[in-house]
Amino acid sequence: MNTFDTLFSRRSVRSYTGEQITAEELEVILKSANAAPIGLGKYENMHLTVIQNPELLNKIDVAAAEVFGDPNRHPLYNAPTLILVSSRTSDPNNKSLGNIPFSNAAIVVHNMVLAATELGLGACHIWGAIAAISNKQDIIEELNLPENFVPCCAVSLGKTDKTYSVREIPLDRITRNEIL
Ligand SMILES: Cc1cc2nc3c(=O)[nH]c(=O)nc-3n(C[C@H](O)[C@H](O)[C@H](O)COP(=O)(O)O)c2cc1C
Repeated sequence: MNTFDTLFSRRSVRSYTGEQITAEELEVILKSANAAPIGLGKYENMHLTVIQNPELLNKIDVAAAEVFGDPNRHPLYNAPTLILVSSRTSDPNNKSLGNIPFSNAAIVVHNMVLAATELGLGACHIWGAIAAISNKQDIIEELNLPENFVPCCAVSLGKTDKTYSVREIPLDRITRNEIL
């Protein structure tokens, strides 16, 4: 796909066959994450956690569904892979990094989503479930994050029966004003 085809055919895919992505696909996804622009070029402020352990995936899914108040919901959509993006939110002097950390994380996730689109894999931004588990100390400990890193968001990934084709994108989905 060329860049525009990828951009205009990308969509959130929340249904997975259950088959795991290959090691080669994972490598391309991770390379795409590492290709993301990061504020001040401080890549050391970012951390990725590849989660393919079914027990931990289930624990996050169940905990998030509980916080959402609907035990029948599956906020991770039974995806076989979840890549968590965590950021440092303050510098070594404890000064807040302001609006940068979550922006960095969003861009890293979106690079992975675009790569997944190109590979024909299903992918979806996962923010709600990550916010939901942010106070679940037992799960946070299992994530084994480096010190001072905060989980921001994630991408769910897996093989899917869904396909991608270029979509009609209305130009006015996002309001705009013009100052000419
Ligand atoms: C910041 C952000 C957070 C999102 N969080 C979730 C989420 O937690 N769960 C989910 O299923 N989709 C999530 N999405 C996907 C959006 O719902 C989706 O992008 C939007 O509805 C447009 O649909 P499309 O991606 O198919 O074009 C998120 C997207 C963004 C950009």
